[in-house]
Amino acid sequence: TQTLQSLAAAKGKYFGSATDNPELSDTAYTAILGGGEFGQTTPGNSMKWDATEPTRGSFSFTRGDAVVDFAAAHNMKVRGHTLVWHSQLPGWVSSLPTGDVQAAMENHITQVATHYRGKVFAWDVVNEPFNDDGTLRTSPFSTAMGVGYIADALRTARAADPDAKLYINDYNTDGLGAKSDAMYNLVKSLQAQGVPIDGVGFQGHLAIQYGFPSQMQQNLQRFADLGVDVAITELDVRMVLPRDATKDATQATYYSNVVKACVAVTRCVGVTIWDYTDKYSWVPNTFSGQGAALPWDENLAKKPTAYNAIVSALGGV
Ligand code: G3I
Repeated sequence: TQTLQSLAAAKGKYFGSATDNPELSDTAYTAILGGGEFGQTTPGNSMKWDATEPTRGSFSFTRGDAVVDFAAAHNMKVRGHTLVWHSQLPGWVSSLPTGDVQAAMENHITQVATHYRGKVFAWDVVNEPFNDDGTLRTSPFSTAMGVGYIADALRTARAADPDAKLYINDYNTDGLGAKSDAMYNLVKSLQAQGVPIDGVGFQGHLAIQYGFPSQMQQNLQRFADLGVDVAITELDVRMVLPRDATKDATQATYYSNVVKACVAVTRCVGVTIWDYTDKYSWVPNTFSGQGAALPWDENLAKKPTAYNAIVSALGGV
């Protein structure tokens, strides 16, 4: 049978969905997640720092392991998400004296990436390093180490898991612009220093009311031309509620445009939607009055408009 994954695989790519531990007990949900539509998953929360090292030196892999086990049982690859991020950081990290941050970061990366060695094909080593104007985001890591924390994180991850593809991942970098220019210059600078960098993740958190990113395919291609993989890592297309046919149609064109951009770029390895159903979307909790961002609705029914647009962008009928 034709699925999003089978169509993507025919193009040499994967089609995936994020998931999270609470919904893994929803059997109607897991039947679809593991039912063949998706060849890849990303844990939405359970490999983050607050989940894996809530207190210093005390690691907890139970929830991340549950996602890995589900994926293994259903032929899905796993992207590890994420080793170093300013958000969902436990309080102890934010309270460290700056002189302790590097050692804590390196130990965190080493422990987590070693645990998941052989279980994840890629890591978002650094997540969201930039502000929207392309300047370096302030975090405990940039405060302690400057921009050099990124190189240090990548080198540490490579040592812990030599086989995983190492990514930097960000949002609002999908199109051409100041923020994607900053990412582009960062990748070039890392390469010039001999730092291991295998890929760039483009989150793809889009909203129909803000327009489609400028020249997305060209943007992906310029990174690919540097010799790194690219991936769409957290795609969703939100709208101001309520849904209507016009908004659904616009949403479908956004899904189509993103998937077509990935299909057109040989080094785009795949597309991940940030969960597949509105039932478990992060959007309404963050953007009041917005939602309906995913190709399956809150009752786990496919939205024909969005779903069929993805199918056809993947070359299906
Ligand atoms: O686990 C607690 C629970 O104990 C508590 O009762 C509940 C009440 O608020 O909160 C639960 O934690 C929530 C957590 O998700 C797990 O559900 C947090 O409040 C909530 O903030 C958190 O949101 C996550 C968000 O990252 C945090 O930044 C979303 O699920 C997750 O989808 C989202 O994912 C991020 C990517 O990692 C990076 N890119 C952007 C993307 C969307 O924000």
